[in-house]
Amino acid sequence: MNNLIIQNASQVVTCSGFTGKRGKEMSNLKVIENGTVIVTEGIISHILRNDEPIPIDTQSYNIIDATGKALLPGFVDPHTHFVFGGYREEEFSWRLRGDSYMELMRRGGGIDNTTRATRCETEKELVASGKQRLNAMLRMGITTVEGKSGYGLDKETELKQLRVMQQLNEDHPVDIIPTYMGAHAIPSDWKGSKDEFLNFQIEEMFPLVAQHKLARAVDIFCEKDVFSIEQSRRYLLAAREQGFQLKMHADEIVSLGGAELAAELGCLSADHLLQVSDKGIRVLAETGTVATLLPLTAFSLKENYARAREMIDAGCIVALATDLNPGSSFSASVPLLFALACIYMNMTSEEAVSAFTINSAAALGHADRIGSIDVGKQGDLILLQFPSYKFLPYHVGMNIVECVIKKGEKVV
Ligand code: NIG
Ligand code: FE
Repeated sequence: MNNLIIQNASQVVTCSGFTGKRGKEMSNLKVIENGTVIVTEGIISHILRNDEPIPIDTQSYNIIDATGKALLPGFVDPHTHFVFGGYREEEFSWRLRGDSYMELMRRGGGIDNTTRATRCETEKELVASGKQRLNAMLRMGITTVEGKSGYGLDKETELKQLRVMQQLNEDHPVDIIPTYMGAHAIPSDWKGSKDEFLNFQIEEMFPLVAQHKLARAVDIFCEKDVFSIEQSRRYLLAAREQGFQLKMHADEIVSLGGAELAAELGCLSADHLLQVSDKGIRVLAETGTVATLLPLTAFSLKENYARAREMIDAGCIVALATDLNPGSSFSASVPLLFALACIYMNMTSEEAVSAFTINSAAALGHADRIGSIDVGKQGDLILLQFPSYKFLPYHVGMNIVECVIKKGEKVV
């Protein structure tokens, strides 16, 4: 029975809306002080103030008393690489001693290293480790997560990663939105043949992924010494022609004009943006492409943070994501994400909440059905231990999510 009434919440932080919020709009969370939310058959059916009568027969409903607690939409994490084999703790310790991320990649570490390990693992093993990571995310309030392929870089393993996500989506309460990222790196077996590798992606892999409905969006690592702007344009245009939505790892390490390309092609999102140009910010502000920022990655790589404040002031739609992966950001810590976004990227609490709910849903093209507390949306909700959303960045590094509700059912 997915019928649920959550009553007397000190705040119902609705984040109301069906599209991404831009600039100043991110400050308005449309909070109802002292409210009740009703979920009927998994879908939000009523949002009430406490002084309004409950207009339904409550007999078939579970009831949660939320006195003294804030109720929010479930968090949406729009950029992760959570399905992978092996770990890179050795590389992390080399980075602590001063080696750079790109240097390790050139030496055959980095994505190559994880690709070798992922190729060796069975589907069952990947499902098991993926499940552990999803459990941890769910406990911190993440109810929908995007997951990228890109640690196979060959036909068999890319499809394996996507099938693992498909299976986890069926078995686990967290909803998984898979993204195909065949162009995450150039595997050693294709060294010196980047364009041929892209042809293989476009001609063989895209049709397979589309045919088996394994992903709706594709992504590429557009970066110096990885895929150039021109190569990214070709790959993404071909993907669009084959019916995919587009995403990009853009301007992460070197400012190449990735944001400009993402805006030009109408990508759902441009992600990372640590080195975005002023022009890149301007064009993102003029289009619907979401600027997805990943402060846990900047923190872990000891890079400067993305210019969130300037992006929001310019009118961009800014989202936040964890980027959980075994290399650049081995963390899905929502508490740390909020702390970094607010303390180091100068986002307000309101902006950070918008960025990890309605705007992150928009970065996935799903703002019409998740990411806010609106009648008709999926009943994905979280209850905090505290009476206000302001505790999310304030209670630094602490998980204050007390209860997680997925499609009207209490799962944590
Ligand atoms: O988003 N930059 C490229 N991709 C990932 C890292 C992948 C890895 O290091 O394994 C990222 O940071
Ligand atoms: Fe990434």
